[in-house]
Amino acid sequence: MEGTVFVVAIDFGTAHSGYCFCVKSLAQNIRSVCWGVEHGLRTLKTPTCIMFDKHGEFVKFGHDAVFLYKRMGKGEAKMNYFFENFRMDLYNKNISRHLMITAKNGKPFSALKVFSESLRYMKDHALKTIKDHTAGKAFTASNITWVLTVPAIWDAPAKQFMREAATQAGLVTELNSEKLILATEAEAALVWCKQLPQDGFITEELSEGTLEHSPGTQYIVVDYGAETTDITVLEVLENESLKVLHSASGGDMGGNTVDLKFKSILRDIFQPKEGPGTVWLKVYCSMPH
Ligand SMILES: *[C@@H]1O[C@H](CO)[C@@H](O)[C@H](O)[C@H]1NC(C)=O
Ligand SMILES: *[C@@H]1O[C@H](CO)[C@@H](O)[C@H](O)[C@H]1NC(C)=O
Repeated sequence: MEGTVFVVAIDFGTAHSGYCFCVKSLAQNIRSVCWGVEHGLRTLKTPTCIMFDKHGEFVKFGHDAVFLYKRMGKGEAKMNYFFENFRMDLYNKNISRHLMITAKNGKPFSALKVFSESLRYMKDHALKTIKDHTAGKAFTASNITWVLTVPAIWDAPAKQFMREAATQAGLVTELNSEKLILATEAEAALVWCKQLPQDGFITEELSEGTLEHSPGTQYIVVDYGAETTDITVLEVLENESLKVLHSASGGDMGGNTVDLKFKSILRDIFQPKEGPGTVWLKVYCSMPH
């Protein structure tokens, strides 16, 4: 695509988000970014959490927003607009650019602003990372082809909403909107898996080095996320592109529910059923995202 030097792929997830990038002509050399180093963490994604102040101005995104929110007193927290898991708010809703969603403090806020400011943060972070990698050479958003993943179950209005948020965030303009590619998460996962060596997969009856590429082959991608488990059926077309044949999303069937079950098992084991005191148990789970 005209003027494209880099490709940046953003995974804007329900619970966590991240991005990776590559020079367009060196697509096999994909670089990812580490998050939370200033908080003593090192994660491939950052929480999809965002905070605005009482005037509705952007304050923080990701780990920074979470740490700031946790440090706040109750009164201060109530004044600010904090959002987590807000991507779920686009599912099964009547979506328009005027959609309002509810912040942690119970007050309504523009959904478009929550999404666009989150994407703006990702964009600025990516441009800064690229600048650091290219000895300060100036690249702008227009030098990048952006890939943004969306759930396969999203309908056209939800995808259109995401496009609008990305445009407001300055990833693309109305004139170069073809530089924003919305890919379903299942497609992205399958494209990645298809180029992996066979080792590491539990596969049977595969003769080639990697998964089959031939047209007509159908795959089922099962994506265990934090909130949901999404199952998508994809078919490889004649021109090697992928077509979503079917997709379904299981609400509440993600990793968070597994965590809760573990906690409840431990509580059953360690919490005395009767007796004078209550044993409070705090369980820390850490999972690679
Ligand atoms: C970056 O984009 C600008 C504006 O579209 C364009 O003029 C410039 O040539 C691009 N840079 C490169 C290195 O392609
Ligand atoms: C591949 O073929 C499908 C169906 O014929 C078409 O919709 C799609 O745009 C094609 N993709 C490319 C990259 O040419």
